[in-house]
Amino acid sequence: GFHAEKERAALYEINREAAAYFYRAFAKGSNPGLEYMAKRGLDAATLRKFGIGYADAEWDSLYQYFLSKGADPKTLLELGLISNSKDRYYDKYRNRVIFPIINTRGKIIGFGGRILGDGTPKYLNSPESTIFLKKNNLYGLNLTRQDINKENYVILVEGYMDVISLYQHGIRNVSASLGTALTENQAAMLKRYTDNVILSYDADAAGQAAALRGLDILHKSGCKVKVLHVTDGKDPDDFIKKNGKDEFLKLVHDAMSFADYKIHILKQRLDMNTTEGSVEFLQETAKILRELSPVEADIYIKKIARETKISEGAIRLEINGNNNSDH
Ligand code: GTP
Ligand code: MN
Ligand code: MN
Ligand code: MN
Ligand code: MN
Repeated sequence: GFHAEKERAALYEINREAAAYFYRAFAKGSNPGLEYMAKRGLDAATLRKFGIGYADAEWDSLYQYFLSKGADPKTLLELGLISNSKDRYYDKYRNRVIFPIINTRGKIIGFGGRILGDGTPKYLNSPESTIFLKKNNLYGLNLTRQDINKENYVILVEGYMDVISLYQHGIRNVSASLGTALTENQAAMLKRYTDNVILSYDADAAGQAAALRGLDILHKSGCKVKVLHVTDGKDPDDFIKKNGKDEFLKLVHDAMSFADYKIHILKQRLDMNTTEGSVEFLQETAKILRELSPVEADIYIKKIARETKISEGAIRLEINGNNNSDH
């Protein structure tokens, strides 16, 4: 209703003022935030584009700033800009680089704050609030959706830094799920711009597990998904800094399709030299191929028969024969 809408507008306004405050601290002369981001190879134009800010090291400078403007501490608490212990309020973000999270309507819905260097937590993110539902948003989409639409594919990454780094290197059809598991709502958001998703998560075990989960969600949502593996460095940011745009685009070109990736994982997990391994491989592969169109399935059946000791006939029988048993 009208009141809820007015309250939301007030929250957006507070976030906008906070973002402007952080931005001014980052843009003025030298400061630790700017130094940190420059050291990571980001240039002024990119940083400006993403509205990057700096939260100073003072205990309550942002709080005092809002107090002087007559803001209600309750609202600042709700937005996660301040915390309180006993009856003292203090700034939540101190001595961190600030990444405003902006929705596709241009509203600032939250912030991520990165520590300068090592320490925990590495990132501090806004809590959920009436204006920030993590499952409904993707980082960077406000800037990149036209490029996603134009290129007709999106590169989905894990982190803020991956988005910004790829963008600076000229790969602008990118967005991030921000460390949380990808949701159906996020898949639906992407589908407004493209059906083609390339998952480019971190090379570590956590990133690969997240890629597998994301793969299923995107596939169920009707996206054509591929998985890209960075072959050098921890993540897309690392890779493109070392190897440049063209090498990254080669990885995009070589990304594994939904079925290829799932079969790749099966081969890693199962010992194909044992009967049990082969049988499970056949059963699991059949499940994957049932998800595909007949033409696609046919291509994979031939490919798997070539690459394993399993015959085409056995694969077809497994796919068709078990149709009714567990489906
Ligand atoms: P850099 O080390 O700055 O390159 O960060 P990254 O983007 O590579 O981060 P990482 O791969 O560690 O994590 C991916 C994303 O998960 C980050 O962009 C954050 O959104 C989120 N994340 C990472 N660390 C934390 C954390 O300590 N707390 C929370 N809440 N989120 C985190
Ligand atoms: Mn402060
Ligand atoms: Mn990681
Ligand atoms: Mn990184
Ligand atoms: Mn990372």
